[in-house]
Amino acid sequence: MAKDFKLLKERAQQIFNDEQSPTDNRLQVLCELLREEIPYYDWVGFYFKNGDREELKLGPYAGAPTDHTIIPFGKGICGQVAVSNKNFVVPDVSAQDNYIACSITVKAEIVVPLFVNGENVGQIDIDSNTPDPFTEEDERFLEFINSKVAEIL
Ligand code: SME
Repeated sequence: MAKDFKLLKERAQQIFNDEQSPTDNRLQVLCELLREEIPYYDWVGFYFKNGDREELKLGPYAGAPTDHTIIPFGKGICGQVAVSNKNFVVPDVSAQDNYIACSITVKAEIVVPLFVNGENVGQIDIDSNTPDPFTEEDERFLEFINSKVAEIL
């Protein structure tokens, strides 16, 4: 199935524009949109820096509930991105030492940091049950999504 990232960007923009809806609701709807429309996006969620703590807190997400609602900086793929400020694409999670498993069905993961005024305030995290599904197109798409999320935080 062809991925229509252009159309998805437009649909995401419509969600962001709904100023009547609280930010968390908009992020929730966005997570559901991405999970439904992109076949290899099986879990889609946001983590945000938890106040002044050196840890991430789970925000809106779509997919199976996770036990990992708090992740210390440096731990797992998410915690590493909180420190590195860089995208982390994992084609095969079983090859990672510093990885927090949420579900045994997950084969791959991508985490893209979210910046507000140059500060890393959180991230979008996607788990896939398909091995090695993510390309640079996903990175550019998720960077776009995060730049728009930054505008409504
Ligand atoms: N796998 C992540 C933990 C978060 S879950 O994927 C929802 C990690 O290693 O940081």
